[in-house]
Amino acid sequence: MMLRRTLPRMASAKDGGGLDAHFPSLRGHPAARINEFRVCRWSPDAPERRPYLQSYHVDLATCGPMVLDVLQKIKAEHDTTLAYRRSCREGICGSCSMCIDGVNTVACLKPVDTDTSSATTVTPLPHMYVVKDLVVDLTNFYQQYKSVEPWLKTKTKKEEKSSPAAEETGRLQEHGQTPEERKKLDGLYECILCACCSTACPSYWWNSEAFLGPAALLHAYRWVSDSRDEYGAERVQALADGWDMLYRCRMIKSCTATCPKSLDPAAAISAMKALHQLGKP
Ligand code: SF4
Ligand code: SF4
Ligand code: FES
Repeated sequence: MMLRRTLPRMASAKDGGGLDAHFPSLRGHPAARINEFRVCRWSPDAPERRPYLQSYHVDLATCGPMVLDVLQKIKAEHDTTLAYRRSCREGICGSCSMCIDGVNTVACLKPVDTDTSSATTVTPLPHMYVVKDLVVDLTNFYQQYKSVEPWLKTKTKKEEKSSPAAEETGRLQEHGQTPEERKKLDGLYECILCACCSTACPSYWWNSEAFLGPAALLHAYRWVSDSRDEYGAERVQALADGWDMLYRCRMIKSCTATCPKSLDPAAAISAMKALHQLGKP
C-alpha cells in the first residue's frame, strides 16, 4: 500500500460545499451554532493528489461536545469516505489520536472549541506515514513498544507452598507487592499508547528508527519501577547500550506537554538516564 508522510505542505483548501450546501435551512436559525472543521484528506486511491484540507460545517447544537463527536457526525451525515480510528470514545483505547489545532491529543477527550468565529483544523499525527486521511501507520511505534519487553520478567520461580493442592499441581505463586510498591507505578501504567507524545517529539521526528521515543521509554520505566520485575538493571543497560534508543532524548518535553492522560514521559526518561549514570538499579 502507498503511504504518505504527513503534511510537508498542504495543497490549497477545498471546500466541501459551503455553509448553504450543508445547512440551507439553518442559516440564520437562532438555535444553530455552525462551526467550520477543516479536516485533512489524502487517499492512496488518488496518490497523485496532494493532501488538502476539506471544510465541513457542523451545527454544534446537534452534536456531542467532543471533536470525535464532530467526526462521527461528519462521517454519518456529510461524508462516509472520511477515515479515522476510534473505538472506546472514553480516552482508554488510544486509537483516536490526531492533531487538533496544532496539538496532538485524542479526539474523544478534546472538547470542541465553541468559538464559531474560527475554524478547527484536524490533521493526522505529525511526521508519520499516512494510510488514509487521519489514519497513520503505527507499525514502527508498536515494534518499538514491543522491543522494551513490556511484561513481567523474573529470575526466580516461586513455588506456592501454602496448600497441598497447589503443591500437587505445581502452580506458581503470585508475585506480591506492597501498597507502597504498587504506588510507584502510578503515572506510568495509565499510558494508552496513543502515540501523541512520540509524534510530538522533535528527536523522534528525525530519528524514529533509532530513538525509541517517549511512549516506549515510559513503558520501559514502568517495568524498571515494578518491584516484582527482576530485570531492571538489564533493561536500563540494554537501552543505554543502544545509545540512540535512550539518549536521543534532549529533554525538550514536548511529550509531557501534549500527553492527553497528563503523564510525564520526559521524567521517566530522565529517571532512567539517572539510573544508568548512577549504576542502578
Ligand atoms: S523530553 Fe525527550 S522524549 Fe520528550 S519530547 Fe523532548 S526529546 Fe522527545
Ligand atoms: S505517554 Fe501519554 S501521550 Fe504518550 S502514548 Fe502514553 S498516553 Fe499517549
Ligand atoms: S476512542 Fe479510544 S481513546 Fe479516543
